[in-house]
Amino acid sequence: MTELFPVPADFAKNALIDEKTYEEWYQRSVNDPDGFWGEHGKRVDWIKPYTQVKDVSYSGDVHIKWFADGTLNVAANCLDRHLETRGDQTAIIWEGDNPNESKHVTYRELHAEVCRLANAMTDLGVKKGDRVTIYLPMIVEAAVAMLACARIGAVHSIVFGGFSPDALAGRIQDCDSVLLITADEGLRGGRKVPLKVNADKALETCWSCKSVIVVKRTGGDIHMVAGRDHWYHELTEKAAATHTPVEMSAEDPLFILYTSGSTGKPKGVLHTSGGYLVYASMTHQYVFDYHDGEVYWCTADVGWVTGHSYIVYGPLANGAITLMFEGIPTYPDASRFWQVVDKHKVNIFYTAPTAIRSLMREGEEIVKKTSRASLRLLGSVGEPINPEAWLWYHRVVGDNRCPIVDTWWQTETGGILITPLPGATALKPGSATRPFFGVKPVMVDAEGKSLDGAVEGNLCLAEPGWPGQMRTVFGDHERFVQTYFSTYKGMYFTGDGARRDEDGYYWITGRVDDVINVSGHRMGTAEVESALVAHPKVAEAAVVGYPHEIKGQGIYAYVTLVADEEPSEELRKELVNWVRKEIGPIASPDLIQWSPGLPKTRSGKIMRRILRKIAENEFGALGDTSTLADPTVVDDLIENRMNRG
Ligand code: WTA
Repeated sequence: MTELFPVPADFAKNALIDEKTYEEWYQRSVNDPDGFWGEHGKRVDWIKPYTQVKDVSYSGDVHIKWFADGTLNVAANCLDRHLETRGDQTAIIWEGDNPNESKHVTYRELHAEVCRLANAMTDLGVKKGDRVTIYLPMIVEAAVAMLACARIGAVHSIVFGGFSPDALAGRIQDCDSVLLITADEGLRGGRKVPLKVNADKALETCWSCKSVIVVKRTGGDIHMVAGRDHWYHELTEKAAATHTPVEMSAEDPLFILYTSGSTGKPKGVLHTSGGYLVYASMTHQYVFDYHDGEVYWCTADVGWVTGHSYIVYGPLANGAITLMFEGIPTYPDASRFWQVVDKHKVNIFYTAPTAIRSLMREGEEIVKKTSRASLRLLGSVGEPINPEAWLWYHRVVGDNRCPIVDTWWQTETGGILITPLPGATALKPGSATRPFFGVKPVMVDAEGKSLDGAVEGNLCLAEPGWPGQMRTVFGDHERFVQTYFSTYKGMYFTGDGARRDEDGYYWITGRVDDVINVSGHRMGTAEVESALVAHPKVAEAAVVGYPHEIKGQGIYAYVTLVADEEPSEELRKELVNWVRKEIGPIASPDLIQWSPGLPKTRSGKIMRRILRKIAENEFGALGDTSTLADPTVVDDLIENRMNRG
């Protein structure tokens, strides 16, 4: 029996949503979506109020529109509307990589800075609808850059600072960015990240990108290209601190974020303005039970969707105090998170299971020597949290006092979809529990039949839906429809498997497609494979995930070398470095198994199911191997796997 953690009485007293309200709102959100969202859409300021609410179809001509005839500006919602009521309140607490560096930025200061950059970008010729790529570390300028884009109606595409020049170039080219905003260097765990050097390399192949704005972070020695590169501080110093926000339609694009799928290159997930902001701010308020004046800290990087929705847009739309951390959990030592919690009196803390697992290894002492008395609520995101890590997080970090919201969602969904509401939901360790308003999970079997009751299956979502959902794949609507709406007709297919228990709680079991989740980072196995086969000594490669104690999943690569090449430790290292260079460090294979042959069907298709089982050391459950062209290949692979322990 799973232990049940009821809502603590103390917590319930002030919670924004109790169980009864959750039930009522949820029923209304799925039975009367126009009424429900018509009301809640008013939480943001509209320039021209909407008269239409929902216009969504998951079948036929697939389209998703919300509040379509309304107009607004997202940056004005995150800044201008707070100036009168909380202009001098802190908007962002920035904590540097170096524990002696931190600062508070008020709403008024942030507003002025965003206006300056908006003016500077306009002077460089950036217009509404243009794409701007952002390749920055976790510094306040990253939020400023996002909001300045939103202010002038430019569409930002953030590329995580850990991605390689090639990966950056691909993302700039795919959306034809006209401007790149980067920094001289990033700083993480005391080490420098050569952002400008990477950017220079990437831009060798990007013709659309005419200008680069460079933030001086470390003062490292970099090369500035005359006529193309501009220092951020020089441009903003001379720009005016006022700016009239551009009026945007609710369905005008706000940002593109590239994410891995099971096939092909990363997709440009496109989010629009009105519905996204309504959903990001509403989930931020209710999932984190956010009360005015509280200090809220999400440890994600703005390069991922979690940083978009829950460091910048959601919190700032709500006038919250959001903490932005430049560093890593283990620098200078493994109690950094808890030191920062004490230093800034953090009330709400949101992180990933991989961080929790890696800190668990360091023992309780290092946590217990900090106070953490300010903490009220904890959150988890990015991958399934194993009950052991959940219980440790609850007992050791939260001193048995703080509820944990295990929030399931995706880049595509824009905001949290399945989650406890901390004042309404009794918790079960390891379960993301219940759907948020508007979200209708459906469990389907492999044939697409909907399953009732307590079952395990593929997780789909049915209409009516929620306003924060992605609208299309940038430049490829057909791919959007194919990827998400063709597997199960009339439903959005998440790519995740899940179990629903007798209480209607959802337990996400992980991806059922060829996407792996390494330390909460999404990786397409196809991307790693194509990086490997691009190496001259590699003939063929197949990549699968395997259980990894800290990372959740590790990257397991089966590699077939070209004739006359011999496996060696040296070559193994060379291939790992090669993949790091091609994609970035997050894609480094954890294990490479030399494989003279790969299990293929007679039509030449690699049977990944078998490779997954071998990587998981589950040799007894290989299933039917009779359709293989050469079944002896499997015996060799197993023998090799066993030899490496
Ligand atoms: C996984 C991150 C279990 C899931 C917000 C999903 C989770 C993928 C959880 C999306 C969770 C995210 N429990 N699994 N609480 N949160 N996932 O696009 O497999 O980077 O499909 O978005 O992460 O990853 P993405």
